Amino acid sequence: MDLNFASDNATGASPPVLQALIDANAGSLPAYGQDLIAREVEQSLAAIFERDVSVFLVATGTAANALALAAALTPWGLCLCHEEAHVIDDECGAPEFFSHGAKLLGLPGTGGKLAPETLRGALDRLPNHEKQMPAQAVSISQATEAGLVYGLDEIARIGAICRERGLALHMDGARFANALVALGASPAEMTWRRGVDILSFGGTKNGCLAAEAIVVFDPRLAETLRFRRKRSGHTLSKGRLLSAQFRGYLADDHWLANARAANARARELADGLAAVPGVRLAWPREANEVFPILPGSIAEALRGIGAVFYPWASRSLPAGTTLAPGDTLARFVASFATAPEAVRRVVETAWEAATPARLPRAASLP
Ligand SMILES: Cc1ncc(COP(=O)(O)O)c(C=O)c1O
Repeated sequence: MDLNFASDNATGASPPVLQALIDANAGSLPAYGQDLIAREVEQSLAAIFERDVSVFLVATGTAANALALAAALTPWGLCLCHEEAHVIDDECGAPEFFSHGAKLLGLPGTGGKLAPETLRGALDRLPNHEKQMPAQAVSISQATEAGLVYGLDEIARIGAICRERGLALHMDGARFANALVALGASPAEMTWRRGVDILSFGGTKNGCLAAEAIVVFDPRLAETLRFRRKRSGHTLSKGRLLSAQFRGYLADDHWLANARAANARARELADGLAAVPGVRLAWPREANEVFPILPGSIAEALRGIGAVFYPWASRSLPAGTTLAPGDTLARFVASFATAPEAVRRVVETAWEAATPARLPRAASLP
């Protein structure tokens, strides 16, 4: 049984995506993203977002984020984000590199979220002097690195601050679909209608092999992107490799079905683990990630059955949440391919480790 909960990119592509690749393999097509499938994907995304959009397909989330931010920043610009955001913590300086020197400024916030008041305070404190880099953009992750989902109101408040101050708002949507179905919102409501100017629309974590789309709502930000993408080596000559994945991903709302499946498995896992004596969740489960605080004996028992998960470190735990000696803050990520039996096996093993044949099992065991 596959007990790999390390990340939602640990799994391969979902069958409709793979089939779309096979279907697109035959015959010749224009290269460098000029193929008809790429046009079709752009039209599908325009329909999904209920407006004209510019779309730039790339193979990694880091490329999507870094190129999107580079389009929004001058080399002397500052982008404010959460201090544990992927763009500042996990991309080896790619946004700074592709923007030729812009900087990211990390701000604190519970659950990986940038609170509007924190953002406003930080902007107010920035000196207005040519010795200091001026703020030009804000980046938020939806869902956050702690698995939380910004509510529509929270996005709108951040969007309003950006409008007020003339800043571009970028959304890192590596888990866009998971956040979207968790909110039950429409893609338009969760983005440009709340002030998002440019979006990294994730595919890889939710069914693609390697495909992300930079979706641009502010046409000014699109002007330079085809040059930036080519210059950075991210314009694939066999562009159909990316466009075909997106064709399979978007068709028949497959992307939403995958996200619903992943979120459902994460919910079962979160509910199951939270009922186990001694286990707490660091943050509520909102999308497809679960962050339990596990006593050492349970973490060990889970590793013993071959479960794979990351020990996690975070400065954004809720006030009052602390780890006891020996506790592990763990990250479990469910994907579209996670089997319900795998979730059950993890929860049962946690129960067995917590209650050596004494306490009755919780009725909520999935
Ligand atoms: C929040 C977030 N953004 C972006 C990415 C994309 O990164 P990659 O370059 O690995 O596709 C990830 C992947 O881990 C992520 O978790």
